[in-house]
Amino acid sequence: MEVHRTSDVVNNGSVDPALVPYRVAYSGARIPAIGLGTFGSDHVSAREIAAAVEGAAAVGYRHFDCASVYGNESEIGYALQRVTHGHIQREQLWITSKLWNDKHAEDDVISSCRQSLADLKLNYLDLYLVHWPFPNFHPPGCDVTSRSKEARPYVHADFMKTWRKMEELVALGLVRHIGTSNMTIPKLKLLLRDARIKPAVNEMELHPHFQQPELFEFVRSNGIVPVGYCPIGSPGRPERDRTPEDTEPTQDPVIARIANRLGVHPAIVCLKWAVQRGQVPIPFSTKRDHYLSNLEGIMSGPLTQEEMREISAIDRNCRLIKGQVFMWKEEQSWEDLWDLNGDITPP
Ligand SMILES: NC(=O)c1ccc[n+]([C@@H]2O[C@H](COP(=O)([O-])OP(=O)(O)OC[C@H]3O[C@@H](n4cnc5c(N)ncnc54)[C@H](OP(=O)(O)O)[C@@H]3O)[C@@H](O)[C@H]2O)c1
Repeated sequence: MEVHRTSDVVNNGSVDPALVPYRVAYSGARIPAIGLGTFGSDHVSAREIAAAVEGAAAVGYRHFDCASVYGNESEIGYALQRVTHGHIQREQLWITSKLWNDKHAEDDVISSCRQSLADLKLNYLDLYLVHWPFPNFHPPGCDVTSRSKEARPYVHADFMKTWRKMEELVALGLVRHIGTSNMTIPKLKLLLRDARIKPAVNEMELHPHFQQPELFEFVRSNGIVPVGYCPIGSPGRPERDRTPEDTEPTQDPVIARIANRLGVHPAIVCLKWAVQRGQVPIPFSTKRDHYLSNLEGIMSGPLTQEEMREISAIDRNCRLIKGQVFMWKEEQSWEDLWDLNGDITPP
């Protein structure tokens, strides 16, 4: 993966997308090494996010991370229509969407994907992810104590039924790649054993205070591209995803010192680290200055080896998106969702 110097790539406030680095999926497809997140964290409007998608495409982004549960695919679809009616061809974009947790049933997978396609006004997706391994619905905007009566644990046989339908989406030509999100090593091992089409991507929380080194290495060693969500530490995340123990990578003295050396916002250091380490960050922003500087930032000179080592040492194992709303029984701890002892947590 080539990394170019800023002076070579920034021209009139935009970046030449042909120079943006990329990761190669096992299919050979190129995934732009940074994407724009589109989750408004329950407080940014669909219209603002759609405007950011259009603006980000204009400054050089070609990768957009969408999901039906974000409630904005229809507005983003209009933005994508305007983008592709301009000078950008559909083939130049990498568009991800995700199957929400209440649509894991065999009869729902294909219709959910078709709905996302209709909303996004596309005839195929580059990547379709199972958003969470749990088939548990929670309503948009709910608080941390919200639980679904139908909430269930992970059952591999059920997940495989969903996955077979995901595979069918590829056969139908509706999606080019399928993948997972919020998975753990034991769950991925079973999926890799049983899948006819293996996941091309695993989307997972990754930032300097939550580096998940084991899962990161597992994913890469199995030819799966790690896509990193909350790459800046999600300063605008919903209340339900905040606890007093949470830390902020952008406030870390090591990140701040490197940002100071480079004369950039600490967010940029988080993104440079992410790309240099080998994951694909998908930062969210609706501000042109921010999303442009994020794109420029990953293309300017690399962090030093010493800086990369220093950042690897500030991991605090601080998971921000704990997933409490997906728990399936009383008296349970959110750690159960993440198979911390190396086995799938029993029901
Ligand atoms: N698969 C999953 O389960 C999952 C879970 C969570 C998130 N995601 C995806 O990951 C994306 C990113 O995660 P996230 O949105 O939670 O967190 P994030 O990207 O770590 O942080 C976004 C926040 O950082 C600010 N920001 C961005 N660039 C900045 C800059 N250059 N300087 C200063 N502030 C900056 C943004 O504010 P401004 O708007 O003011 O710039 C926004 O508040 C989501 O949008 C979504 O697409 C996926």
